[in-house]
Amino acid sequence: MKVRIGSSQLELVEGDITQQDVDAIVNAANSSLLGGGGVDGAIHRAAGPALLAECRKVGGCPTGEARITGGGRLAARYVIHAVGPVYRGGTQGEAELLAGAFRHSLELAAQQGLRSIAFPAISTGVYGYPMNEAAHIALSTIRDYLRRHPQIELVRMVLFGPGVYRIFADVLTALLAQQT
Ligand code: AR6
Repeated sequence: MKVRIGSSQLELVEGDITQQDVDAIVNAANSSLLGGGGVDGAIHRAAGPALLAECRKVGGCPTGEARITGGGRLAARYVIHAVGPVYRGGTQGEAELLAGAFRHSLELAAQQGLRSIAFPAISTGVYGYPMNEAAHIALSTIRDYLRRHPQIELVRMVLFGPGVYRIFADVLTALLAQQT
């Protein structure tokens, strides 16, 4: 699914984030930035040891923020390591922290002059964020950012499996229908 937001494109695809040929892919990291399972493990395996060495130098990242490194052996030139919240029922500021992880990643990409960026569904695996709510936060944060910052030409959400893709597609369709 592809939609226009101002002069930019927002795209949903089903696939593997490590295979994306964009300026930067976003990692669903933890605050240590020293690796883990899920997307994080897959990105470190695909990028090779240079990524971990760079992450060590960065020295961590608070929840709701992001840090940028090179992409090692990946097709993407950069990895933006975003730290989403662990879901604890939704009353611990999780929504704002998840939106922050997306917004900071987009800001870092724009600061570096990047034009294309691919995100996974941050916090929806090990961190337990309900998929529907996470999709709404991710997509509305991206839409709001792109409306104000046309220098990012392409944002791609890379969804792991048809079920997750369907949820994101339904949420995006509903968000667009609300627009005036
Ligand atoms: N490409 C795209 N999406 C993927 C891929 C992939 N290769 N692999 C999994 N997903 P998770 P979190 C989806 O657990 O919830 C790590 O240990 C997956 O189906 O990777 O933010 C970190 O070090 C799910 O929908 O990230 C942290 O400690 C989504 O990506 C912690 O997990 C995110 O799942 C972060 O947890």
